[in-house]
Amino acid sequence: MIHSKITGVGMYVPEQVVTNDDLSKMMDTSDEWIIERTGIKERRFFKEGEDTVSSMGAHAAEQALERAGKKAEDIDLIVMATLSSDYNFPGSGVLVQRKLPFRQIPAFDVRAQCSGFIYALSVADQFIKTGMVKNALVIGSEVQSNVFEKSDRGRNMAVIFGDGAGAVVLEATEEPNKGILTTKLHSDGRFAEELYLEHPGSRRKERFSPDMIEKGELLPYMNGKMVFVNALKYFPEVIREALTECNLKDSDIDLLIPHQANARITVQVQKEMNLPDGKVISNIDRFGNTTAASIPIALCEAWQDGKIKDGDLIAIASFGSGFMWASALIRW
Ligand code: UT7
Repeated sequence: MIHSKITGVGMYVPEQVVTNDDLSKMMDTSDEWIIERTGIKERRFFKEGEDTVSSMGAHAAEQALERAGKKAEDIDLIVMATLSSDYNFPGSGVLVQRKLPFRQIPAFDVRAQCSGFIYALSVADQFIKTGMVKNALVIGSEVQSNVFEKSDRGRNMAVIFGDGAGAVVLEATEEPNKGILTTKLHSDGRFAEELYLEHPGSRRKERFSPDMIEKGELLPYMNGKMVFVNALKYFPEVIREALTECNLKDSDIDLLIPHQANARITVQVQKEMNLPDGKVISNIDRFGNTTAASIPIALCEAWQDGKIKDGDLIAIASFGSGFMWASALIRW
């Protein structure tokens, strides 16, 4: 049966490192608070005029292509996961498409926030399974540093998020027990307003107004505790759903790569699933939460560091705005 496997991984993060102390100069926060509550020590901020969601995505894609031994011309599909597209429309998939010598292939965005990469991976996987395409690029890329107010008012979110991109090349394969074994996707829209950015949306006659700026309505809102509690519930649940379907158990996981939302969430999930330290990836200390880019960046680093071997069972999982949550099992 045709299914897909990952044959190349890539990442790109902007040069500018922003430490907790840097942020403490802009708002009432501290290195101690940020490390204790989130595990973050530093993150990257994009440089205007140099980095965009599409340019960072294209850099990550180039690296993934090179490692897969593929050329842009070989790719049949681009699925782009982002909540921070260069433009409101069109999406950033087409902007990546024009940056490298791709053919006139389908390229589109998936809006699933923190779960964006796994949703996008699942979409590309289905295209490959049906035989519609042979080679796909799945990209997660975000610029978050310019949506938060770097002030006391915006501190609860401004300290958490960062910028960056990751990408994978997916290829059709007929090798048994290899590649993507399953993907599990979920949502519960009742919680949409627990982590959201209302404006500029299309509900009101005016998409934005000076009034909205003044009231802080152009800033995202997050009910941190509500997200935290639900993340702890759904991370293990969605991973186990995938394991059960594949007749596998927690201890079969060789490497768990969770969405990097908060080091405390990762530690709790690790405990709940009884996984030893070496089997769980955490890089939030260096990049913060890069939303749809966090899993492909962590996957790429794990691969670069030699933490992924042939035949390993890799679990990836995410939870975030929507609420949307997801998992995938990959036999490397
Ligand atoms: O990837 C998207 C999904 N997002 C997540 O998974 C996020 C999940 N939630 C979290 O990670 C945590 O809830 C946060 C890290 C966002 C917050 O941690 P918390 O332990 O839930 O803190 P809190 O929001 O309850 O705030 C505790 C205190 C408050 O002060 P009072 O009311 O106790 O006096 C906040 O005002 O910390 C204050 N606070 C800050 N202090 C210093 C909030 N933000 C900051 C800050 N620096 N940046």
